[in-house]
Amino acid sequence: MTRVRGLLFGGDYNPEQWPEEVWAEDVRLMAEAGVNMATVAVFSWSRLEPRPGVYDWGWLDRVLDLLHEYGIAADLATATATPPPWLVREHPEVMPVDAAGTRLEFGSRQGYCPSSPVFKQHAVRLARAVAERYKDHPALAMWHISNEYADHTLECFCPESARHFRSWLEKRYGSVDALNQAWGTSCWGQHYTNLDQVEPPRKAPGPVNPSQLVDWRRFCSDALLELFGAEKSVLREITPDIPVTTNFMSILHGLDYWKWAAEEDVVSDDAYPDPADPESHVAVALSYDLMRSLKRKPWLLLESAPSAVSWREVNVPKPPGMMRLHSLQALAHGSDGVMFFQWRQAHYGPEKFHSAMLPHGGTSTRGWQDTLRLGRDLRNLAEIAGTSTKADVALILDWDSWWGLEAPESMPSNRLRLKELLLAWYAPLHARGINVDLARPDEDLSGYRVVIAPNLYMCTAESLRTVTGQLVVGPFSGVVDPNDHVHPGGAPGPLKTMLGIEVDEFWPLPDGVTQETTAGIAHTWAEWIRPIDAEVVATYQGGELDGLPAITRKGDAYYVSCLLDDPTAILSIEGLDLPDGVEATRRENYLFLLNHATTPKKVILPTPGRDLLTQQDLEGEIEIAPRDAIVLKESSDTPVYP
Ligand code: GLA
Repeated sequence: MTRVRGLLFGGDYNPEQWPEEVWAEDVRLMAEAGVNMATVAVFSWSRLEPRPGVYDWGWLDRVLDLLHEYGIAADLATATATPPPWLVREHPEVMPVDAAGTRLEFGSRQGYCPSSPVFKQHAVRLARAVAERYKDHPALAMWHISNEYADHTLECFCPESARHFRSWLEKRYGSVDALNQAWGTSCWGQHYTNLDQVEPPRKAPGPVNPSQLVDWRRFCSDALLELFGAEKSVLREITPDIPVTTNFMSILHGLDYWKWAAEEDVVSDDAYPDPADPESHVAVALSYDLMRSLKRKPWLLLESAPSAVSWREVNVPKPPGMMRLHSLQALAHGSDGVMFFQWRQAHYGPEKFHSAMLPHGGTSTRGWQDTLRLGRDLRNLAEIAGTSTKADVALILDWDSWWGLEAPESMPSNRLRLKELLLAWYAPLHARGINVDLARPDEDLSGYRVVIAPNLYMCTAESLRTVTGQLVVGPFSGVVDPNDHVHPGGAPGPLKTMLGIEVDEFWPLPDGVTQETTAGIAHTWAEWIRPIDAEVVATYQGGELDGLPAITRKGDAYYVSCLLDDPTAILSIEGLDLPDGVEATRRENYLFLLNHATTPKKVILPTPGRDLLTQQDLEGEIEIAPRDAIVLKESSDTPVYP
């Protein structure tokens, strides 16, 4: 991942918020805690380039030298996340404009128009200057481009963005006729005679053309990726051997992370599960699995909260043990380190109440003791760095389909939300300790015993063709083509032959209404389906759909036409028998057992081994304390996958 050995440990370090006297204490305490990497200069543009083309490197030179002196590597930011005031005042057009036409004001962060050539030119100039300055600095271990793309600014509706959108459309369609065809502009009198007439989907009197909306989502993801790419190519040119990352935001609707990850060396993620939600460890496990799946290799938890965040309505702290447990959970799902936002708790600004590795109260706090303890744990676990994860189950996630599914105002029901659909399948698998990969519908899926597409609203002839194991397709799939046009003959379109069914009519259920089936209670959605050559596995019971098929099967291809609380009974895969709240995950021959419950839990180990956290040999039935974990290095050389 980087040249730093073992697992990475550290956090965002913002020394420019502190007098220099504090820096010496920072690095001394970092070393004491075992910190080996710090993310620096994320929001430092206005300090590094206080006037156009005039740089002030002195402070950052000293910070990097200090870090290096204490054996701490730098995940060095290109510092382009927030444009400086001089750039905004000289070129107000670098600030983004919202859908109602208001240009946003300076005074927060990450305010820039993704399509602004002026912003891009200045950002690339700074990235080049930073890279030239620090290319040979011994602390430099990784490049961190910008920060959380799409946070605060995912889209901009200014004239420059409109121009950029039109040129993106021109590349995609080649002509206005092709665009008219793709967008179905014969509907509601939207026929264009020139591409120049096309605008971004600003606030309109009524529902906006859904094909236009899907293209807008594609464009917005691509426009930011272009910006990232412009900085990356400068870094590649100057430091070809330094890995590049940008921090993702877990499962994010706005950016197609498959496309993005292909442009990165290291996938990194920022994850903030809510301590107030007792099930948050399940949803976060799903996003960790996505991060690992994006490159099918270890990734890095680049930001997490040591305790409370500062941006929810109510920011609940992590109770004792949770920070450690959640950190170990990221490792269990393939992260090669645990990093935090941030190192030292701020004294001012919007994040002054956000927790940190070194809290306001200093080294006498519970937080600092937690930091020290985690540092020790990570040293004990160093040997898991680089180990891989094998999964027999793939969950399909496709951004085009997601964008189509969640386009507002034109669907049979607005209640189908992709993250919830994914989670409905993922949670029961997770509860049985079954490793899961996320996958694209058009990649080689032949290595998986089970492939589940909870929903694939948008689908092509190539989708899911390579599945050789069991295939399970969820409702409202195979509905439209990539232009958001319904497939001829209706759903499930190109999946019809594979699944052996036809959908006669979608049957969304009103809020709070349920529908019985022989496979359990359905909610939110049902369908009137007709088997062609599929057998019926389960039927609807009672109501308008009484006796009609709810689940069908043609060979190994299943169609589930409704949403069930636990749809996994039909899967041909066995898991572990785990007590409630206990999570089990494997990386090669390391078995992670994590007890998220507040009571002790007993587990029977599948094989004897040594717990790397306590250095104790364990076998048979063991007890895991509340919010505690075991990382078992199994004695057997042959890993047994659940
Ligand atoms: C994100 C940002 C950080 C910080 C944290 C707070 O992860 O990247 O700069 O604001 O949120 O949780």
